[in-house]
Amino acid sequence: MPHIAEAIESIANAARTGLSASPKTLPPWLFYDEAGSLLFEQITALPEYSLTRTERALLAAHADDILAALKADVTLVELGAGTATKTGLLLRAAAARQATVLYQPIDVSPTALEEACAQLSAGIPGLTVRPQIANYVTEPIHVMRETHKKVLALSIGSSIGNFSPDEARAVLAKLRQQLRPGDHLLLGTDLAPGPQKSVRSLIAAYDDAQGVTAVFNLNILSRLNRELEADFDLRRFEHQARWNAGESRVEMHLVSTCAQTVSLPARSMGRAQTVHFAPGETIHTENSYKFTAESVRALLTPSFRPVRSFRDADDHFAVTLAEAV
Ligand code: AVJ
Repeated sequence: MPHIAEAIESIANAARTGLSASPKTLPPWLFYDEAGSLLFEQITALPEYSLTRTERALLAAHADDILAALKADVTLVELGAGTATKTGLLLRAAAARQATVLYQPIDVSPTALEEACAQLSAGIPGLTVRPQIANYVTEPIHVMRETHKKVLALSIGSSIGNFSPDEARAVLAKLRQQLRPGDHLLLGTDLAPGPQKSVRSLIAAYDDAQGVTAVFNLNILSRLNRELEADFDLRRFEHQARWNAGESRVEMHLVSTCAQTVSLPARSMGRAQTVHFAPGETIHTENSYKFTAESVRALLTPSFRPVRSFRDADDHFAVTLAEAV
């Protein structure tokens, strides 16, 4: 089972690097083990987390316009597909326009991808799903191409918001290398606070009343306990969501409520490690960047050229169709 051994190694690597850095960090892809993927699904249904509902409504309203704009049959590839619940809207619209549709979801979570395959294959005639379990940042991506079809690449759900602007541009440049002029990208981005979106509501989306997001955030420590045999005491860490206006991002942190030492035992690849926490010190687990029309354009440049953009009436979310240049 080389794949599983590799996964443990990259988890150990990420934990060692992030927890010896100052300030301490853990990468958000670590959220998405089986438990974390389920918790994220719960988050998408929370009253405070309107992002998914808003994007779903935009895709439902405009899937056909999006596919029509490509003026050719398409093959779809999705970065960070997860369970692909919203993607069905685009796949169904594609299946209505062409005889066969190839869909290539890429994700770090095998359980999420299994769910995606099971849900989609059943309901959409002519659809073939070819999943790839991969971290599309650290591992190579392969986009299959069908003759006489254009590629429509998807980065939806504002997953691009997990990356710094430079990292995000690098991800899009790497994707662009697999594409040809005329292929397209559909980019979903959550929008920055404005007249119809308060900072308070934005923070609430990452610090919900039921505490689901807190459990999601703390699950990253449970995962290190489970998979690396670390000894994080979850009662000694608290979930925190902050708005960082200067960087236009919501940050999630895990705050150490006391002075404490956590140990990561030796594994195949490394030495045992102890990690000290001062009271109030945090592990920064996630950035969720919030965009403007200008910052979306800056992200796309130079790999893609925006073609059309769809937003909800309250300016909460944008879906941008862009052409590979
Ligand atoms: C899946 C990265 C888009 O940033 O809103 C939800 C993840 N984190 N609640 C986001 C998340 C906390 C989500 N993305």
